[in-house]
Amino acid sequence: RLLIIDFGSQVTQLIARRLRELSVYCEIHPYQNATDAFVKEFAPKAIIFSGGPDSVMREGSPRPPKAAYEMGVPILGICYGQQVMMHDLGGRVEAGEHATAEFGRAYVTPKDDRDAFLNGWFMDGTGKEQVWMSHGDHVAEIAPGFEVYGTSPGAPFAITADVSRNFYAVQFHPEVHHTPNGATLYENFVKLAGFTGDWNMGAYREEMIEKIRAQVGDKQVICGLSGGVDSSVTAILLHEAIGDQLTCVFVDHGLLRLNEAEEVVKMFRESYNLKLIAADEKDLFLNALEGVSDPEVKRKTIGKLFIDVFQKYADQIEGAQFLAQGTLYPDVIESVSFSGGPSVTIKSHHNVGGLPEKMGLKLVEPLRELFKDEVRALGHELGLPASFIGRHPFPGPGLAIRCPGEITREKLAILQKADAVYIDQIRKHGLYDDIWQAFAAILPMKTVGVMGDGRTYDFAVALRAVTSVDGMTADTYPFSHDFLSETMTRIINEVKGVNRVFYDVTSKPPGTIEME
Ligand code: XMP
Repeated sequence: RLLIIDFGSQVTQLIARRLRELSVYCEIHPYQNATDAFVKEFAPKAIIFSGGPDSVMREGSPRPPKAAYEMGVPILGICYGQQVMMHDLGGRVEAGEHATAEFGRAYVTPKDDRDAFLNGWFMDGTGKEQVWMSHGDHVAEIAPGFEVYGTSPGAPFAITADVSRNFYAVQFHPEVHHTPNGATLYENFVKLAGFTGDWNMGAYREEMIEKIRAQVGDKQVICGLSGGVDSSVTAILLHEAIGDQLTCVFVDHGLLRLNEAEEVVKMFRESYNLKLIAADEKDLFLNALEGVSDPEVKRKTIGKLFIDVFQKYADQIEGAQFLAQGTLYPDVIESVSFSGGPSVTIKSHHNVGGLPEKMGLKLVEPLRELFKDEVRALGHELGLPASFIGRHPFPGPGLAIRCPGEITREKLAILQKADAVYIDQIRKHGLYDDIWQAFAAILPMKTVGVMGDGRTYDFAVALRAVTSVDGMTADTYPFSHDFLSETMTRIINEVKGVNRVFYDVTSKPPGTIEME
């Protein structure tokens, strides 16, 4: 296993992710915990020093344990990790002046005739490799035994190595997307350390199960299950780890898709044998939403009621000391970068904000290190059906924000049916996996139509389908005219109360993905 000593960089988890992609098992430990004794006991096959915000020049700034250098294993230092390594091994670091600080894209060129080494190790042979820099301080003198292999305009020591000791140190961040060839550097580093790439999600699952058992002991755990991928994977993992010490609470707020509540409850009770409280609170939510048309008031009403309801059911679970949440790594980054500001960890309503403190619950967050695609891989490993893992995102406030204006039970029922027909069409045409998110919305108006021999005055439905990478920007999905026209016919014929169908062609920006 590989040990990452974390000096507090925002992108340390990306190092772990790159290593997982190479099927290498690693653990991240904050520098405060990485004592000499710890490192010896850990017995890593290789060590990485992460970047970090501090300055090596500052009295009392973080240091790796001395033992790290004495283990006889390869070490890779990144950014702050490079500087601390040079400092510890007899080089010199200078505080950043504006002229030498580098932030953003830079190009590394091989030093002198070193490109033979670099071409195999990191560079692609073009002689100029794009990297991502983010440093104030810089190395002014490298440590004895080290050589310079690559330089950039702001970092004369961009790539340094003491090949005889297998110590490598780079000023840039090979783990980020903007260092396109960074994965090659990690690949060569782990190969050199003797990793064979035999670790996988199955192993991760076993490790997480052990960790959960160690954290929870014989205590009771509550988990809010929404039926989304994150909370589902969390629940199943917890269930594997602690069985009936886990109780899940599924809240039906009446704003779910057609048959969704029944399907989720059935799957988790029957296929997974999970202890599940299915809270039918449709009336509570829909009554509270009566007459409400402002989108923000809708969201707040749903969010607040959700917490109240969750607490009511959680209170019934005797002796619960833990709350399990499907927090992912991107949610963690978000909360760190906004630290000091209001809490932004509440990404959706099922992450029950404020509740852990209110109820004195400790958090169990087994997905905290993972990215969405890794959670899907883990879900697959846990046997969740592929159709379930690949489901489009569904917002916490559910259909409430797909029913602009006032919500009525009648409109909700029409919307659920129209949405089900639309999604069925998309699946039948094999388009579901090409689309980031697709749904129907019901518009707050009626229009005149003609059906059979009579005039109708019915609701209009808008269909939406977008492609996106992360939901931040989105393009309209280019359905064929035939597809749209067939879908229109099916919706009008199969859903009573609809006489007109629109296709929303707005991208994001200027639109949002949801209607409200
Ligand atoms: P927008 O509409 O903001 O949507 O372009 C971007 C992504 O976020 C989802 N979304 C929400 N998710 N609570 C949620 O849990 C919300 O209030 C909410 N609003 C939007 C939306 O479905 C899309 O995936």
